[in-house]
Amino acid sequence: MSESNGVLAGRTILITGAGSGIGKATCLLAAEQGAYVVAADIKAQDETLAEIQAAGGSGEAHELDVTDGAAWERVVESVLASRGRVDGLANVAGIVSASDALTTQNDAGWDRITGVDLKGPYLGMRTVISHMLEAGGGKIVNVASTAGLIGMPNVVAYSASKGGVIAMSRQVAIEYAAQNIRVNVVAPGVTQTPMLGDITEELLAQVSAATPAGILGKPEDVGSAIVFFLSPGSDFVTGQVLAVDGGWTAQ
Ligand SMILES: NC(=O)c1ccc[n+]([C@@H]2O[C@H](COP(=O)([O-])OP(=O)(O)OC[C@H]3O[C@@H](n4cnc5c(N)ncnc54)[C@H](O)[C@@H]3O)[C@@H](O)[C@H]2O)c1
Repeated sequence: MSESNGVLAGRTILITGAGSGIGKATCLLAAEQGAYVVAADIKAQDETLAEIQAAGGSGEAHELDVTDGAAWERVVESVLASRGRVDGLANVAGIVSASDALTTQNDAGWDRITGVDLKGPYLGMRTVISHMLEAGGGKIVNVASTAGLIGMPNVVAYSASKGGVIAMSRQVAIEYAAQNIRVNVVAPGVTQTPMLGDITEELLAQVSAATPAGILGKPEDVGSAIVFFLSPGSDFVTGQVLAVDGGWTAQ
């Protein structure tokens, strides 16, 4: 692994949610493909950075609350100072709630979830896009969910956020397509990360049995789709949504 080899060789890629699950897997896969990884999470992710470096990769770790526009500015300015550019952004950070049905959700919970899951990617795109335009292009990947594509129980604020991320990504994609900016979405199905929290083994077995592929996703399954959208192999792809869900939404 080095910055001179791989489909992301020498590219500076900012990844949120870097401390856990899909974000962490994406950091490691991107570094393996030669990216200089800016690993950002609500608490600075020195552990993820240490794993990247132990595997021969390079990057830096930042504390970034994705709901805080000033924090986005600080992190991006710092990356521009050290690297001169941001070639790619993966908005991976996200949260769920156990009481997110229309009748159990409340205003504070709605604001908290939409703040991270919808406003977060908006602020991230808004912060990097002027620099990408100046640099002559860039790649953005937003992580939504199958809950943004089809109806699911108990996820009202989450579904609204993820559906909003898909619509917003298409809008930004066509707005800046002629300026060599690419914006795509990865929509994971149920993926084995800490986000699953206390979901019982029994329920997870039911989910995998109801999935055409008969398995649950791994963080790397989603991370490799994100890496594709960050790489030159996707230069003619924009405004698209790739469900990484074992066929769940193909049924
Ligand atoms: N795991 C799944 O089954 C699944 C399914 C569909 C979509 N997703 C989406 O994938 C993405 C990653 O989820 P995951 O499963 O890896 O979850 P995870 O809980 O393992 O990781 C989420 C990360 O986001 C970070 N984060 C939370 N709030 C933040 C904030 N305000 N600012 C910065 N970072 C913040 C957390 O600290 C954590 O490191 C999320 O957007 C999630 O909605 C996950």
